[in-house]
Amino acid sequence: MNDIANKITRAAQLLRAGELVAFPTETVYGLGADARNPIALAKIFAAKDRPADHPLIVHLPDATHLGTWAIDIPAAARMLAAACWPGPLTLILQRHPAVPDLVTGGQNTIGVRMPNHPVALALLHEFGSGIAAPSANKFGRISPTTAAHVQQELGESGEKNVAMILDGGACAVGIESTIVDMTSATPRILRPGAISADTLRRLLHAPVHDSHATQPTEREKNTPRVSGSLAAHYAPRTPLQMCAVESLPAAIAAALQEGQRVAVLAPEPVPPLPAHPRIIRRIASADFSQFAHDLYAALRELDAANCDLILVATPPDNEAWRAVNDRLRRAAAGSGTDSGNR
Ligand code: TXA
Ligand code: MG
Repeated sequence: MNDIANKITRAAQLLRAGELVAFPTETVYGLGADARNPIALAKIFAAKDRPADHPLIVHLPDATHLGTWAIDIPAAARMLAAACWPGPLTLILQRHPAVPDLVTGGQNTIGVRMPNHPVALALLHEFGSGIAAPSANKFGRISPTTAAHVQQELGESGEKNVAMILDGGACAVGIESTIVDMTSATPRILRPGAISADTLRRLLHAPVHDSHATQPTEREKNTPRVSGSLAAHYAPRTPLQMCAVESLPAAIAAALQEGQRVAVLAPEPVPPLPAHPRIIRRIASADFSQFAHDLYAALRELDAANCDLILVATPPDNEAWRAVNDRLRRAAAGSGTDSGNR
């Protein structure tokens, strides 16, 4: 057996023993626990400092497991699972009565997905059941897209509670899965991701509500069912501002004038920026998939650069860029504090 196969066997044993295992998916790294074991689930909330009413996504080895986690599964949900799994799509369904409350945050629904990463799939097959896994970061902080990020966020073993971190390289997608609520007549996107509303409409030949295209209702604002729906999330500690590309030179000049160190994430070729010891520059891709792939690593790197301000060139405002713009807005809203949004 090679090294990674050994590690996966060990990781499955640890999960069975009620321990936490961080593992790669195609979106971001997850912090996994046996989704049937309330004691193991409680460790996730402790490790992340996550409020207990935030439900967890259950990762499945394949769609044949759906019936042990959800009931009244609509045909449209099965169709999406068949078309998109393994892949970055989470389905919200009616929960099965046997699912622990900690998974669902006490709600009568459950989020499930089958991730598209060979290490995650091997672990799920070895474990043979659902693995509950939020992103492996402190609550409100930037999601990890490498094993090193997980190590920085949560550490391995001991007091920090994470028994093992499986390394599967950098995540291909780089931002969290699309979440679609399948429990009402018209499916509704709760969190935009790599699989767009248009793709879902095409697959279903039916309407799909894109809640991010409309204002949230008062009730939605007050019940944070999706932690990504809190205004502040995915946040660096350094204040982050969005800035139109053409206004960047003026914004940078103003920051320098005030003696600030400024980090800039902008595509090439923007108006040429002066070489200055207090400007740190990272090139952003003009392609949205590549931008998403790089985004969290870039934010981590710029956040670690000890600047007073991170300026991000605002990407195009269209459907393709929706998920990226959503994460950037939230990063800006939550930036500049030590605690993020609790
Ligand atoms: O790509 C992903 O989805 C990653 C990887 C690890 O799979 N996971 C992830 O988990 O992003 P987390 O916990 O960071 O975000 C999951 C979101 C949370 O905002 C949670 O509130 C929402 O899914 N969620 C889970 N179950 C739900 C439910 N029954 N109803 C509504 N939202 C739910
Ligand atoms: Mg998360």
